[in-house]
Amino acid sequence: MNAPLIKRPFDVEAIRAEFPILSRQVHSRPLAYLDSAASAQKPEAVIEAMAAAMRGSFANVHRGLHTLANETTGAFEAARAAVAGLLGAPSPEQIVFTKGGTQAINIVANGIEIASGDEIVLSVMEHHSNIVPWHFLRERKGAVLRWLDIDDDGGIDLEALDALIGPRTKMVAITHMSNVLGAKTPAAEIVRIAHAKGVPVLLDGCQAAVHGRVDVGALDVDFYAFTGHKLYGPTGIGALYGKAERLAALRPFEGGGEMIDIVEQGRVTYNAPPHRFEAGTPPILEAIGLKAAIDWLNTQDRAAIEAHEAALRDAAMAALGELNWVRLHGRAVDKGAIVSFSIDGAHPHDVAQILDRQGVAIRAGHHCAQPLMQRLGVTATARASFALYNRLDEIDTLVEALHKARKLLS
Ligand SMILES: Cc1ncc(COP(=O)(O)O)c(C=O)c1O
Repeated sequence: MNAPLIKRPFDVEAIRAEFPILSRQVHSRPLAYLDSAASAQKPEAVIEAMAAAMRGSFANVHRGLHTLANETTGAFEAARAAVAGLLGAPSPEQIVFTKGGTQAINIVANGIEIASGDEIVLSVMEHHSNIVPWHFLRERKGAVLRWLDIDDDGGIDLEALDALIGPRTKMVAITHMSNVLGAKTPAAEIVRIAHAKGVPVLLDGCQAAVHGRVDVGALDVDFYAFTGHKLYGPTGIGALYGKAERLAALRPFEGGGEMIDIVEQGRVTYNAPPHRFEAGTPPILEAIGLKAAIDWLNTQDRAAIEAHEAALRDAAMAALGELNWVRLHGRAVDKGAIVSFSIDGAHPHDVAQILDRQGVAIRAGHHCAQPLMQRLGVTATARASFALYNRLDEIDTLVEALHKARKLLS
């Protein structure tokens, strides 16, 4: 949907030129931004689309009868169609705008019927966004969380998954790609196994939708959570995809304007999805920015981007793998451009701070995945994550900076 037929040939320098922030310096060094899994930088097209809307056509959506309201509503709904196109959703009506992936998962967890003793199946490598909303159900409704183990690389045992799904399972909620190990999960098989027992599946696609193409229709998944700021869009915008019948069966989570049909003193009825889940003024400018990001991405050759990111991942894994004082976490073959590692005798926070002095931005900590840290037997890792704008020579810069960090910390 909306994708132009002619794609621009992949040229990393040309792409970098479209991201103004990449030309800045940090501590008098050229910036090597290796933290895109936390949040990606924004191309000029996104910055300009949001500024142009504020300068030229802005009003609140859906409720106005004047020109600016109608124009903005059109732009907002066009953004919904762009997200539907990105995710392969059959209809824009199946896309609920949220403030991010976290809110998308909360809408599902708060919207399903749960009785004491009902079960939710999760993997141990989930982001807290796909853990804590289910913990709320455990605390508040007596739900039982059933945890699927992984192997050291983030691989999933499908037979073990099958065995965890029982008559009380109400949802399988699992990541489509780990934000720590980069491991991609076998989503289609997970869905098939869960559906064979009549259990719906929520995939956390906050990372997967950035590093590969997603087709929720082909996956047959029931819910898909997506966040915009990792896909070169602004913060404050994400989406929940749901099958029409699944969205229709969800109780609304937040109440307010626009999500209703009739409000009287003694009763309230609700609007149809997706508006039922979009209480209050939605993130309008952010949706416009997200559409610009998707349109921009659609002008690129996604296969070439995937090849470039795979080359970055392979080069980083090979370069760090040669250092016998670096321990790599997650060597899955089917892995996105995320490389987590530990350095013998050094805390990841110290490593990240020393790297920052050399212009290299990486992340260190538990990455909002404490159960995974516990499973790996570490308290934190360092993580370098790559995007389409990273250059191979930034891996040399990373390695050089790591050598310096080791010298300073040993
Ligand atoms: C796998 C995964 N799920 C969920 C989230 C939460 O996304 P957001 O903070 O945009 O809501 C993140 C963000 O780091 C993530 O990596």
